[in-house]
Amino acid sequence: MKRIRISELLESKEFGKEVTIMGWVKTIRGSKNVSFIALNDGSCLKNMQIVADAEKIPADVTERIHTGAALKVVGELVESQGKGQINEIQAGNIDVLGEADPDHFPIQPKRHSLEFLRENAHLRFRTNLFGAITRVRHHMIFAIHKFFNDRGFYNIHSPIVTGSDAEGAGEMFQVTTLDLQNPPKTEDGEIDFSKDFFGKATNLTVSGQLEAELAALAMSQVYTFGPTFRAENSNTSRHLAEFWMIEPEVAFADIVDNMDLAEDMLKYLVQYALDNCKEDLEFLQQRLANEDKQKPENERSMPLIEKLNFVLENNFERITYTDAINILKNSKPNKKKKFNYVIEEWGADIQSEHERYLVEKHFKKPVIITDYPKDIKAFYMKQNDDDKTVAAMDVLFPQIGEIIGGSQREENYDKLMKRIKEMNIPEETMWWFLDTRKYGTVPHAGFGLGFERLMLFVTGMTNIRDVIPFPRFPKSAEF
Ligand code: 4AD
Ligand code: MG
Repeated sequence: MKRIRISELLESKEFGKEVTIMGWVKTIRGSKNVSFIALNDGSCLKNMQIVADAEKIPADVTERIHTGAALKVVGELVESQGKGQINEIQAGNIDVLGEADPDHFPIQPKRHSLEFLRENAHLRFRTNLFGAITRVRHHMIFAIHKFFNDRGFYNIHSPIVTGSDAEGAGEMFQVTTLDLQNPPKTEDGEIDFSKDFFGKATNLTVSGQLEAELAALAMSQVYTFGPTFRAENSNTSRHLAEFWMIEPEVAFADIVDNMDLAEDMLKYLVQYALDNCKEDLEFLQQRLANEDKQKPENERSMPLIEKLNFVLENNFERITYTDAINILKNSKPNKKKKFNYVIEEWGADIQSEHERYLVEKHFKKPVIITDYPKDIKAFYMKQNDDDKTVAAMDVLFPQIGEIIGGSQREENYDKLMKRIKEMNIPEETMWWFLDTRKYGTVPHAGFGLGFERLMLFVTGMTNIRDVIPFPRFPKSAEF
């Protein structure tokens, strides 16, 4: 079934040549004598125009062609009279590979709400919007591997099933083959996981970091890019139960090196999108502008491409948690109690409303906050000399809030052990992690970039459920 991809054919001036294309009908219009069909095969946003003359394509064929139908078209490439296109196909033969009943096919050529498309996620790839998002997502995945490969990082597949809770937040999905109706019990009446498939309690990974650290302490610079699972019950537009995370881990690196890497990487990825996804970004920008028209002027966002360039042009502001708290404490929304979580004192968690205030209102550029109180961060972070803070860093972006979380790691065995004890982390699940601090330990640092948060930023979409093909969130695992 040889065919030319539409993206390739659209550029061609080989008029007179016979070509074969296949794809799905976006629209069909016309009269008794001639039909015009817009065909799309996912290779680009634009459609190929097909002219079907009644003389060559009988009515019993064109009658079966509706939006959503799949066609094989063989015809002659001819110069187009229409504006905005070089060529079109004068159809010699059309095979209807698959019909789409117009009374039932849900994706019609009109504006569908994002909610409707989420309920029809099996078909939403057929829309211009999800075609564009799917292509951008692919290019970003490729760019991430390219970025690290060009810098001599090795990709590590960290395990998906683990026995540890890397973040210590207890937001894990259990993995078990035990009979839930009748699980084996120990003498004290607890579930006996020694009888389970892996001989112990296991869960889906919440982060590949701990294993990435093991690899970094031999390979010097590595990264993971894998599925990540969190059973947090947050029904927000920025959380998924299953998302993809990129976690670089670098030996012989401190928190400043870590910030530099994070900033370089984000800028590289944004630049890559601008260079390689122009047509789709322009489409997404237009969509955003149309949506914004319904909003009051002060709530409208910057045009998408301008927003992307804005990240490239500015150095990220680097401030400590203590600075951030002071700015927030003295801010108007805090004094007027406009925040849902009013900042009272040092030690408070910085919520996404605060993150967005700092980025969008105060600094008006991306912000990196460092040196958080140790009590609100994970056990593995490097303890600062003040005994109060750790060498953590969160990168905050407009509209998104936290896009990256990371830290320099505690490389000192005794200090790490002390923290594990203080935080009641089951030591027996951590022996292998602790071993790296016994044998050839070095300063090292890393971070996690939430891939779908990056996708939100690059596409300008506002709900994370729209930038992953099949979102998983509380009470939803359809498709
Ligand atoms: O800040 P987090 O929890 O950090 C870690 O997991 C570290 N182990 C990373 C590291 O240092 N190697 O998560 C990192 C990023 C967040 O900044 C956010 O972008 C994303 O992962 N993220 C989520 N994205 C979508 N849905 C969720 N439920 C997310 N939770 C975190
Ligand atoms: Mg975080």
